[in-house]
Amino acid sequence: MRILMIAPEAAPFAKTGGLGDVVGALSREMAMAGHEVRVVIPAYGSVRHRDGWAPHPDPVAVHISPWNTLFCRFWTLNPPAHPAPPSAPIFHFVEHNEFFGENAIYTEPRRDAYRFAFLTLAALDFCLQTQWHPDVVHAHDWPAALAPVFLNTTRRGTALGRAASVFTIHNLFHQGIVPASLMEWLRLPSWLYTADNLECFGALNLMKGALYHATKITTVSPNYAREIQTLEHGCGLDPVLRHRAGDLAGILNGIDLAEWNPAADPHIAARFNAADAAQGKAANKAALQHALQLNPDAGIPLFGVVSRLYEQKGLDLLADLLPALLENAHMQFALLGSGEARLEDCYRNLAARFPGRCAVRLGFDNKLAHLIEAGADFFLMPSRFEPCGLNQMYSMRYGTLPIVRATGGLADTVEDWGSGHGAKTGTGIVFHEFNHGEILHAIHRALQLYFDFPPEFTALRRNALARDFSWKKPVAAYLNVYAEALKSRRGQGAATPPA
Ligand code: ADP
Ligand code: GLC
Repeated sequence: MRILMIAPEAAPFAKTGGLGDVVGALSREMAMAGHEVRVVIPAYGSVRHRDGWAPHPDPVAVHISPWNTLFCRFWTLNPPAHPAPPSAPIFHFVEHNEFFGENAIYTEPRRDAYRFAFLTLAALDFCLQTQWHPDVVHAHDWPAALAPVFLNTTRRGTALGRAASVFTIHNLFHQGIVPASLMEWLRLPSWLYTADNLECFGALNLMKGALYHATKITTVSPNYAREIQTLEHGCGLDPVLRHRAGDLAGILNGIDLAEWNPAADPHIAARFNAADAAQGKAANKAALQHALQLNPDAGIPLFGVVSRLYEQKGLDLLADLLPALLENAHMQFALLGSGEARLEDCYRNLAARFPGRCAVRLGFDNKLAHLIEAGADFFLMPSRFEPCGLNQMYSMRYGTLPIVRATGGLADTVEDWGSGHGAKTGTGIVFHEFNHGEILHAIHRALQLYFDFPPEFTALRRNALARDFSWKKPVAAYLNVYAEALKSRRGQGAATPPA
């Protein structure tokens, strides 16, 4: 099958969070399964002209509208040497100074809508110009949400018109709500400006457009697929999602087992596997304490966080609780993250107040992220909502017990410490309601597990290390969705726009 992925991020080139991880890993796994996969992302200033990039010989003409053509340059990594499906995806990077010249992946929402609409059209027009016609166009999150709309409208009559579209919701909270002038720039047909297309309270909602126009829709965990059809988690789009429920699938993300492998991780201090996890974790904990200027202490439980610092992650509630905890409980805390200024300030102050017990690093640091996963005893994710979450899976793979709220993919992946003292089942600590009391109770249970139940703690660590989060099942599930999408697009009942 020929698959075109369109996304704002793909690891290892450009990443701010899990979306980048998933687009990078899913493309590789699909290609390894024998499919012809191409991924189109912007050539941001920060990722430009890496080793092995080859320029496409001709500028690519992007037909924004019948009267407006813009040109960009495509760069390719792994140019195909022969027509057989390669076992690696081909990455295309779109260079355009005005849209993607700066280092940042995301800028200001209104401008981003134009930047990513351009990316999406560039991806489609490049396929037309090079006569590489995908069977499936797989668009990720609101930045690529116009792909299914273009395929049903302005590109419907082209050689891409038979391509099925699959739209993946990584995070329903960010929908791409932008002024209607974007429609004029793109000269989209006016019938799209209705509530069951793109229109939303006098503006455009790009995500909504994708939800109406994609042949199939997926999201990144089965539980989140159910949640987003409810008023509480639907972010205003639950009626649309219920309307399309028959075409919506929740597919749990896998993780990249090569990038996140404690037995071969170049970023950590001591490599380990399930058999020597106790020694390996102890060595990494010592290294982490040293790296972050925490007091050297093998016997103190160390709680870690690696996260974007936004409301979604529930770290505001955690910050309220930490002063009393660090004052009274025997524990250390290490956080790596960046995001909202108020949260950054709050954690910066906490570190200043508890030197040696609380360490905070603000910024993006892949190596330190790996060391925290390897060296911490517990990993905190008290999320308000979490479509899937990757860090809890990385944690389990590194024998670090996640403490999570049972929401979205966290509920699908972490099993609570079995009830009753002495229980040896579970892979972490799970709590349910989003409030201070429940987070505090979860942390107390973790401290109890660590200090009062050492054999149970070891058993849970062993359970966590034994979990399988490979891409095998998700890839099979995506292929199934692609096949169904193709059948529906090309057979009876194709998703066609009104005349
Ligand atoms: P989200 O995509 O909502 O941010 P995920 O748990 O799916 O949450 O993925 C987060 C990814 O981003 C993980 O790979 C995590 O290690 C990484 N990450 C987040 N913040 C940082 C940071 N400050 N430095 C390094 N990696 C980070
Ligand atoms: C989003 C979600 C996160 C998910 C990631 C990858 O960023 O917030 O929960 O794991 O996408 O799908």
